[in-house]
Amino acid sequence: MIRTMRPVIVAANWKMNTTPADAGELARTIASRTRVAGVERVICPPFVCLAAVRDALMDAREEVAVGAQDVHHEVAGAFTGDISAAMLDGLASWVIVGHSERRRDHAETDERVAGKLARAIEAGLRPILCIGEQLAVREAGSDAAAAVVVDQLWGAVMPNDADALIAAGLVIAYEPVWAIGTGKNARGADAAAMASAIRNGLRAIDWGDRAENVPVLYGGSVTAANIAEFLAEPSIDGALVGGASLKPDEMAGIVARAGVTGDARRSESPIA
Ligand code: PGA
Repeated sequence: MIRTMRPVIVAANWKMNTTPADAGELARTIASRTRVAGVERVICPPFVCLAAVRDALMDAREEVAVGAQDVHHEVAGAFTGDISAAMLDGLASWVIVGHSERRRDHAETDERVAGKLARAIEAGLRPILCIGEQLAVREAGSDAAAAVVVDQLWGAVMPNDADALIAAGLVIAYEPVWAIGTGKNARGADAAAMASAIRNGLRAIDWGDRAENVPVLYGGSVTAANIAEFLAEPSIDGALVGGASLKPDEMAGIVARAGVTGDARRSESPIA
């Protein structure tokens, strides 16, 4: 079987950190310290910092994509304080949807997340769909965890057209909720098992071989010290990094290790 070469992706989720005054410089510093061939880099600052980060990266001619941390599930209307896909035009080319902090703090349901995916597709934004189980579910065992995660996956993906999601470059981030911001990361083997469950979940809804091409990232307390454990797993294609993504040293270490995986994949690839 010819294995497809999936890209290696490191996405920085800055969450509710940085300001328009300091975000550009941080982005430029991280970009300059993570110039590694074969790794796609994305920085997702807060909405109000998107323009500063875009401008800083453009001025420095850095090939780092800019992503938003969320997008509204409706096209436009009476949604005070929310941001639509059209508003992101020219500011971001990627978007995170379904992050567990949004599900928790803004009561986002799978149905809403499906709407966000739809808006991302229409706007030509590359979506990173976040899914992951709570601690109690993980404690019930890996089958229980996989069932919950695949349910979230189906809830977000099934209302949308599979080909449109593939064309938009759908990326899935497996982020166990108990590992986010806690300093407790999942084991590499558990993340790999979940990546397989996710791709099997897509096959089960008739994605066929398209499932194999969907990048699956791991997220949850990723650092330069533990990234290798995840990237050693062939089914894991990179990381969605929160806390450590604000630290240039950490990002340098994470992306350097991602470059090792990128090199290995290129040398294995039949088209390399
Ligand atoms: P963390 O966050 O790396 O701080 O755990 C990851 C995420 O929420 O995307």
